[in-house]
Amino acid sequence: MERKKQVRQRKPISLVELKWVVFGLAAWAIFGLQLYYFYFRSLPFMDTLVSQIIRIIIIFSMIEVFFRILTRKEHQLKQSEERYRNLVENAASGIVMLDLNGLILEANEAFASILGYNRKELLGRSFNSFVSKEDLPKVKKGLKALQERTFLKNQELKLRTSQNKEIVVERDLSLLTDTEGKPYAFTSIIRDITLRKELKKQLEEDFIATVETLADLEELRDPCSAGHSERVRKLAEAVARKMNLDDNQVKDIRMAAALHDIGKIKISESILSKPTSLTSQEMQLIKEHPSAIAEALNHIPRSAQVSRIIKYHHERYDGRINADFPGYPGELRGEEIPVGSRIIKVVDVFDTMTSIRPYRPARSRRETIEELKNGAGTRYDEKIVRVLLEILDAPERRDNSPK
Ligand SMILES: [Fe+2]
Repeated sequence: MERKKQVRQRKPISLVELKWVVFGLAAWAIFGLQLYYFYFRSLPFMDTLVSQIIRIIIIFSMIEVFFRILTRKEHQLKQSEERYRNLVENAASGIVMLDLNGLILEANEAFASILGYNRKELLGRSFNSFVSKEDLPKVKKGLKALQERTFLKNQELKLRTSQNKEIVVERDLSLLTDTEGKPYAFTSIIRDITLRKELKKQLEEDFIATVETLADLEELRDPCSAGHSERVRKLAEAVARKMNLDDNQVKDIRMAAALHDIGKIKISESILSKPTSLTSQEMQLIKEHPSAIAEALNHIPRSAQVSRIIKYHHERYDGRINADFPGYPGELRGEEIPVGSRIIKVVDVFDTMTSIRPYRPARSRRETIEELKNGAGTRYDEKIVRVLLEILDAPERRDNSPK
């Protein structure tokens, strides 16, 4: 009751109410003066009365006009507020206002619907309580960046709905400041992009599957390399993730690993399956396989990075081309070589050595690891060898890996 009373007290007096108060006061003052004039000054009665009535009518008309103008402005203000309210309430995107502690001050129906709640249930709750734990550092980082730029665009977050379902949203965040530039709240526009992400992922999976089918077809020509591309892709992805590379880099590496040897399609089966050492001419043909597929990929939009990873997946880390195991095409060394190429190089060696080749039996896991350790820092990127060995040492890998 007391709270309701306080709310009523704070409510500002409307212009219509004010109009009648002033109108009444003016009428009282004018009639009061008239009475004083008639009774105490004894001037000619009728003339004075008529002229005073006319004067009163004019004054009242002016007051009326003045209040009509004020009332119209108030009406226009109300209409403008109503339009803004409708804009926010009927927006297809979720709109939410947070205080500086991240508590929800206001939210529209679209935002409530994204999370599966009633709008009123959200008021006063912490926005972060809906964010998945893994994305909380991202939220913190975003708020820090916001203090410098006052605007943050397209931040992707995973949120939990009322049914404990994980959804992906994209949000734009703005910092609100008062007239002195002091921050007092955040506003956020939120779009549910779960379906878009699922479709995109499905498309990428379908594309990878198509690429792998092509790789499988190519591998049919050389039975010893059956399943090689798929194993290299999975292991290269595991290494890239363990190195905390960003999602786009991991996607490019997956794609490049799936396609890395498909350029061998231009090499004859007799060379691929040759049980003896290759001649220098045959070796030259083998060395052309990364460039062959890299060139072909140039026809596919947005594949420049994948093409570059494939082109350099046989470079030596030290860049040497005149060694027992020369790198090719011999254009880059060290960190100049794309990280994806360095990963595929190490993983490719591991899988090739532990597989049967036409000219030798499969090497043991121990021998292969020894080769990787010996070549770390010269043939291979030392850090990547270390990461691969950590992955291979994991209990679930130890059982599945070649002995
Ligand atoms: Fe290769």
